[in-house]
Amino acid sequence: MKINACIFDLDGVIVDTAKYHYLAWKALADKLGFEFTEVHNERLKGVSRMDSLEILLEVGGITHLSEEEKLKHAADKNELYVSFIKKMPADEILPNVREFLNDLRENGIKISLGSASKNAEMILEKLELMPLFDAIVDGRHISNAKPDPEVFLRGAQELGEAPENCVVFEDAQAGVQAAKNAGMACVGIGDAETLGLADFVMPGFEKFTFADLKAQLNK
Ligand code: BG6
Ligand code: MG
Repeated sequence: MKINACIFDLDGVIVDTAKYHYLAWKALADKLGFEFTEVHNERLKGVSRMDSLEILLEVGGITHLSEEEKLKHAADKNELYVSFIKKMPADEILPNVREFLNDLRENGIKISLGSASKNAEMILEKLELMPLFDAIVDGRHISNAKPDPEVFLRGAQELGEAPENCVVFEDAQAGVQAAKNAGMACVGIGDAETLGLADFVMPGFEKFTFADLKAQLNK
């Protein structure tokens, strides 16, 4: 395939924020009185804040909350999450991600963010990564959550590229599915068992270059 653009999920791909999302949701589950494990948490990855809350409540068997109570719980979770993020050291960027983004730019590849998070810009600014992105599509711009392809199709559109020339990097099942629904190639970041739909899966970006990406996708 001809690669013209790369679209990156944020949480769990660029930066190790997935653990802070988990800790903040777990604090809510503790408050509501049920156990919420990392296995349960896998279902929340890539999923919007309110949809994540619905999954968490389903895990806890909690069915009788008003819309107002749900909004309050989601706001509390976000407040706790943002407090973790504010304390996050700048080196929480995952290994070799900055170098890989620079390598893409040097090869003339366009770069977009494709994240469900409404906190995305704040995080990219904190990590001083904003200048490396040609477009930002995040939870504030989309109405259909992953696995709907909207977030990635919009990224391709903003970059002026056809979906078949775009590669998505994703750590979530819902995100890999969204990339495939968009007709894009997808690199899974994590383990192959969870992300089996991706074109190939790797644990992270360590030692990974644009040349490796081309080789993997054109095997
Ligand atoms: C995704 C995360 O990137 O963003 C989800 O994988 C999270 O876990 C979602 O729920 C929404 O994030 P936020 O920051 O808007 O609550
Ligand atoms: Mg993610």
